[in-house]
Amino acid sequence: MKPITLTTLKELKRKSEKITCLTAYDFSFASLLDRAGIDMIMVGDSLGMVMQGHETTLPVSLAEMVYHGRCVARGVSRALIIVDMPFTSYQESPQRAFASAGRLMQRGGAQVVKLEGGEPMAETVRFLVERGIPVCAHLGLTPQSVHQLGGYRVQGREASAAERIRHDALALQQAGAGLLVLEAIPAELAKTMTAELEIPTIGIGAGPDCDGQVLVLHDMLGVYPRPSPKFSRNFMVGAPSVEEAVKAYIGAVKSGAFPGPEHGY
Ligand code: KIV
Repeated sequence: MKPITLTTLKELKRKSEKITCLTAYDFSFASLLDRAGIDMIMVGDSLGMVMQGHETTLPVSLAEMVYHGRCVARGVSRALIIVDMPFTSYQESPQRAFASAGRLMQRGGAQVVKLEGGEPMAETVRFLVERGIPVCAHLGLTPQSVHQLGGYRVQGREASAAERIRHDALALQQAGAGLLVLEAIPAELAKTMTAELEIPTIGIGAGPDCDGQVLVLHDMLGVYPRPSPKFSRNFMVGAPSVEEAVKAYIGAVKSGAFPGPEHGY
């Protein structure tokens, strides 16, 4: 099967075919997801919570992201691999971001790097993209800013906040971002943004109208011991195996059955 690229994802958006994504952090799960036919695998810094047991993603280091990215890459032949830039590895300057992203691509199996933040990150996005590093941006609930946001709460509910997010998205697209994750924002806002952006939007708690969906693997398999967010669903319920649960997720996203209204804001 042909490997998925950013061009493939843009083509899926054009054809209104939903894009599927799950997180993975190791070889065995990554190869299972790839076999099941997932379009993208995200090595998220959520690994700080689901693999390491921290309360937030903040303690995750670049070396840890490189390690997990490399493990994932060994199991994948088709899916596009996105690796998160961890907290403090990119915010300081475009040059610092380039050095971190370079390590993720050279040693950590990344084909695309993901960073959080709005217009203030646009210069960094441009710096990376102009130097050959594809970037996925992340807006809405940005977990690395959890203390600034006052907790894991839905973003963009007030008109001015929604306008800010739309404006940020356009600035990031203009800077060259190839994809945009929208986390925990009202479904209507995500729908509007998905229609006005050329780049694919990947939602998590952002309603059914994004171009694609992502969930944290441990949430959708129901194995995370702490409460999972309302926007997740346990696909192991009724599934005879992990592989079948992943296939059920892929099918539900592709058909538009997931997420339902109960998973959105
Ligand atoms: O860290 C992560 O896993 C993520 C996705 C869930 C969007 O950022």
